[in-house]
Amino acid sequence: MKIALGSDHGGYELKEHLKQALTETEHELVDLGTFSEESVDYPDYALAVAGNVASGECDLGVLVCGTGIGVSIAANKVPGIRAALAHDVATARLACEHNRANVLCLGGRLLAPSLAEEMVRAWLSAEFEERHQPRLDKITEIEHNRE
Ligand code: RB5
Repeated sequence: MKIALGSDHGGYELKEHLKQALTETEHELVDLGTFSEESVDYPDYALAVAGNVASGECDLGVLVCGTGIGVSIAANKVPGIRAALAHDVATARLACEHNRANVLCLGGRLLAPSLAEEMVRAWLSAEFEERHQPRLDKITEIEHNRE
Protein backbone atom coordinates (compact mmCIF):
# COMPACT_ATOMS: atom_id res chain seq x y z
CA MET A 1 0.00 0.00 0.00
CA LYS A 2 1.06 3.57 -0.68
CA ILE A 3 0.05 5.73 2.27
CA ALA A 4 -0.07 9.53 2.36
CA LEU A 5 0.69 11.11 5.73
CA GLY A 6 -0.20 14.64 6.75
CA SER A 7 -0.63 16.77 9.83
CA ASP A 8 -0.76 20.31 11.11
CA HIS A 9 1.49 21.51 13.94
CA GLY A 10 -0.81 19.92 16.52
CA GLY A 11 -0.31 16.54 14.90
CA TYR A 12 3.28 16.92 13.79
CA GLU A 13 4.87 14.95 16.61
CA LEU A 14 2.49 12.02 16.22
CA LYS A 15 2.80 12.08 12.43
CA GLU A 16 6.57 11.84 12.79
CA HIS A 17 6.19 8.96 15.25
CA LEU A 18 3.87 7.09 12.90
CA LYS A 19 6.18 7.69 9.95
CA GLN A 20 9.01 6.15 11.90
CA ALA A 21 6.90 3.21 13.05
CA LEU A 22 5.49 2.50 9.60
CA THR A 23 8.83 2.55 7.80
CA GLU A 24 9.38 -0.91 9.28
CA THR A 25 6.31 -2.21 7.44
CA GLU A 26 5.89 -3.15 3.78
CA HIS A 27 3.99 0.08 3.09
CA GLU A 28 5.35 2.96 1.04
CA LEU A 29 4.95 6.31 2.80
CA VAL A 30 4.47 9.72 1.26
CA ASP A 31 4.88 12.53 3.79
CA LEU A 32 2.94 15.60 2.67
CA GLY A 33 3.87 17.72 5.71
CA THR A 34 3.81 19.69 7.80
CA PHE A 35 7.51 19.50 8.55
CA SER A 36 7.84 21.43 11.81
CA GLU A 37 5.84 22.57 14.82
CA GLU A 38 5.34 26.03 13.34
CA SER A 39 1.65 26.95 13.28
CA VAL A 40 -0.11 26.06 10.02
CA ASP A 41 -3.70 25.55 8.85
CA TYR A 42 -4.98 21.97 9.02
CA PRO A 43 -7.27 22.23 5.93
CA ASP A 44 -4.18 22.63 3.73
CA TYR A 45 -2.76 19.29 4.85
CA ALA A 46 -6.15 17.58 4.88
CA LEU A 47 -6.61 18.64 1.26
CA ALA A 48 -3.11 17.49 0.31
CA VAL A 49 -3.68 14.00 1.72
CA ALA A 50 -7.32 13.67 0.67
CA GLY A 51 -6.57 14.92 -2.83
CA ASN A 52 -3.71 12.48 -3.14
CA VAL A 53 -5.93 9.56 -2.11
CA ALA A 54 -8.90 10.68 -4.22
CA SER A 55 -6.69 10.93 -7.32
CA GLY A 56 -5.40 7.40 -6.75
CA GLU A 57 -1.82 8.52 -6.24
CA CYS A 58 -1.93 6.93 -2.80
CA ASP A 59 -4.17 4.09 -1.66
CA LEU A 60 -4.82 5.42 1.83
CA GLY A 61 -4.11 8.44 4.01
CA VAL A 62 -3.43 9.18 7.65
CA LEU A 63 -4.13 12.68 8.95
CA VAL A 64 -3.28 14.08 12.35
CA CYS A 65 -4.22 17.39 13.95
CA GLY A 66 -4.64 18.27 17.62
CA THR A 67 -7.95 16.47 17.96
CA GLY A 68 -8.36 14.82 14.55
CA ILE A 69 -11.64 16.71 14.19
CA GLY A 70 -10.50 19.50 11.90
CA VAL A 71 -8.68 17.25 9.44
CA SER A 72 -11.61 14.83 9.31
CA ILE A 73 -14.11 17.61 8.54
CA ALA A 74 -11.87 19.04 5.83
CA ALA A 75 -10.87 15.70 4.25
CA ASN A 76 -14.50 14.63 3.97
CA LYS A 77 -15.19 17.60 1.68
CA VAL A 78 -13.13 15.89 -1.03
CA PRO A 79 -15.33 13.64 -3.21
CA GLY A 80 -14.43 9.98 -2.85
CA ILE A 81 -12.94 10.43 0.59
CA ARG A 82 -14.27 8.57 3.58
CA ALA A 83 -12.24 10.02 6.43
CA ALA A 84 -12.85 8.47 9.84
CA LEU A 85 -11.91 10.01 13.16
CA ALA A 86 -10.87 7.14 15.41
CA HIS A 87 -10.24 7.22 19.15
CA ASP A 88 -9.18 3.68 19.94
CA VAL A 89 -8.29 0.38 18.30
CA ALA A 90 -11.94 -0.66 17.94
CA THR A 91 -13.02 2.49 16.07
CA ALA A 92 -9.91 2.32 13.87
CA ARG A 93 -10.64 -1.31 12.94
CA LEU A 94 -14.35 -0.65 12.39
CA ALA A 95 -13.54 2.35 10.20
CA CYS A 96 -12.20 -0.18 7.71
CA GLU A 97 -14.57 -3.08 8.36
CA HIS A 98 -17.82 -1.08 8.21
CA ASN A 99 -16.95 2.18 6.47
CA ARG A 100 -14.00 1.34 4.21
CA ALA A 101 -12.40 4.55 5.44
CA ASN A 102 -9.65 5.54 3.04
CA VAL A 103 -8.32 8.19 5.41
CA LEU A 104 -7.77 7.66 9.13
CA CYS A 105 -7.82 10.79 11.30
CA LEU A 106 -6.16 10.94 14.69
CA GLY A 107 -5.82 13.41 17.53
CA GLY A 108 -2.16 14.11 18.14
CA ARG A 109 -2.86 15.83 21.45
CA LEU A 110 -5.18 13.08 22.65
CA LEU A 111 -3.51 9.79 21.80
CA ALA A 112 -0.43 8.14 23.22
CA PRO A 113 1.94 7.39 20.33
CA SER A 114 1.93 3.65 21.05
CA LEU A 115 -1.90 3.55 20.97
CA ALA A 116 -2.02 5.58 17.75
CA GLU A 117 0.46 3.17 16.20
CA GLU A 118 -1.66 0.21 17.26
CA MET A 119 -4.73 1.93 15.80
CA VAL A 120 -3.09 2.50 12.42
CA ARG A 121 -1.92 -1.12 12.33
CA ALA A 122 -5.44 -2.33 13.20
CA TRP A 123 -6.98 -0.18 10.47
CA LEU A 124 -4.42 -1.31 7.87
CA SER A 125 -4.80 -5.00 8.64
CA ALA A 126 -8.62 -4.99 8.84
CA GLU A 127 -10.81 -6.08 5.95
CA PHE A 128 -13.88 -4.32 4.64
CA GLU A 129 -17.09 -6.31 5.14
CA GLU A 130 -18.85 -6.29 1.77
CA ARG A 131 -22.33 -6.35 3.36
CA HIS A 132 -21.83 -2.64 4.09
CA GLN A 133 -21.27 -1.72 0.43
CA PRO A 134 -24.87 -0.57 -0.20
CA ARG A 135 -24.43 2.05 2.54
CA LEU A 136 -21.23 3.30 0.96
CA ASP A 137 -23.07 3.50 -2.36
CA LYS A 138 -25.60 5.78 -0.69
CA ILE A 139 -22.81 8.03 0.54
CA THR A 140 -21.45 8.23 -3.01
CA GLU A 141 -24.96 9.07 -4.22
CA ILE A 142 -25.11 11.98 -1.77
CA GLU A 143 -21.86 13.29 -3.27
CA HIS A 144 -23.20 13.01 -6.80
CA ASN A 145 -26.57 14.58 -6.01
CA ARG A 146 -24.83 17.59 -4.46
CA GLU A 147 -22.57 18.28 -7.43
C1 RB5 B 1 -4.60 23.67 16.13
O1 RB5 B 1 -4.31 24.40 17.28
C2 RB5 B 1 -5.84 22.81 16.37
O2 RB5 B 1 -6.97 23.60 16.34
C3 RB5 B 1 -5.91 21.74 15.33
O3 RB5 B 1 -4.77 20.94 15.40
C4 RB5 B 1 -7.07 20.76 15.41
O4 RB5 B 1 -7.22 20.23 16.67
C5 RB5 B 1 -8.33 21.20 14.81
O5 RB5 B 1 -9.33 20.47 14.76
